[in-house]
Amino acid sequence: MILSRFVRLPVFILCLSMIAAGVFAQAPASKYEPKVGQEGKDVKWVPISSALAEKMLDMAKVTQQDYVIDLGSGDGRTVIAAAKRGARALGIEYNPDLVALSKRNAAGQGVADKAQFVQGDLFESDFSQATVITLFLGEEINLRLRPRILVLKPGTRVMSNHFTMGNWAADETITLGKSDECDYYCTAYLWIVPAKVEGTWRFPQGELRLEQSFQVISGIFKSGGSTFPVMNGKLSGDLIHFRVGKAHYSGRVSGHTMQGTFESGRSTTEWSAIRVDKVLQAPSKTPIL
Ligand SMILES: C[S@@+](CC[C@H](N)C(=O)[O-])C[C@H]1O[C@@H](n2cnc3c(N)ncnc32)[C@H](O)[C@@H]1O
Repeated sequence: MILSRFVRLPVFILCLSMIAAGVFAQAPASKYEPKVGQEGKDVKWVPISSALAEKMLDMAKVTQQDYVIDLGSGDGRTVIAAAKRGARALGIEYNPDLVALSKRNAAGQGVADKAQFVQGDLFESDFSQATVITLFLGEEINLRLRPRILVLKPGTRVMSNHFTMGNWAADETITLGKSDECDYYCTAYLWIVPAKVEGTWRFPQGELRLEQSFQVISGIFKSGGSTFPVMNGKLSGDLIHFRVGKAHYSGRVSGHTMQGTFESGRSTTEWSAIRVDKVLQAPSKTPIL
């Protein structure tokens, strides 16, 4: 049907004003309300209880210096809570409606500058700069992410709501109850990415051979023709603790070196070691046991 020029012009103007008024938009964005249990790409949306989100940020000791990334950030509540503590925070969420909602929520709560959100697949996202990672996903997904998490900077804190990391035992676990205003999914796990220390280390007094299973270390110390087991070995980020005989070692790992102090009886002595590839015959002069 051909409209006359006199009819076409008003119709055109009407269409322009309808577009301007948003009449053709599918639904006003501000009306989007996610439904608990709605499908997500790999996991449904179930929001973390605000009490547990705060507890996770407490356990991770989040400060203004941190960069917190929530993988699968839902309506943005954990990211916003982190931003309110002064941290820089990023939510990575697959559902674009949830991303838009999160941005509105952050703006409404005055933290749009610190709380940012991007639409994307968490498996394809770069979270290598995070100092704190928060997860509420599922054990199978945690296990898929685990290799990428274990190569993050030692000391990076990883929090998961409810779901574990398989045989990587948590460094800390806290469960809230109803009296803490948490009704469901109330257990938070904390892991601290450990430094990599497996291998052989040369001390002035001998040689330390370490095996490592996540944050747990074991091994032997060879000194002066004798061999001693490494006991109670533990890493917390780049902090290392172990016992050889009656000497309690504590120190800090930095790449291929580590140093600290050991206590034996009433004396405290400094120690340092460097990583070596091959077995070295180090002389034993200073007693350390
Ligand atoms: C259980 S909810 C947790 C939401 C939020 N982290 C919280 O604690 O309130 C999981 C979220 O992950 C999102 N999601 C699922 N698969 C995803 C993927 N592959 N990439 C990014 N987000 C995903 C879902 O849309 C949902 O919002």
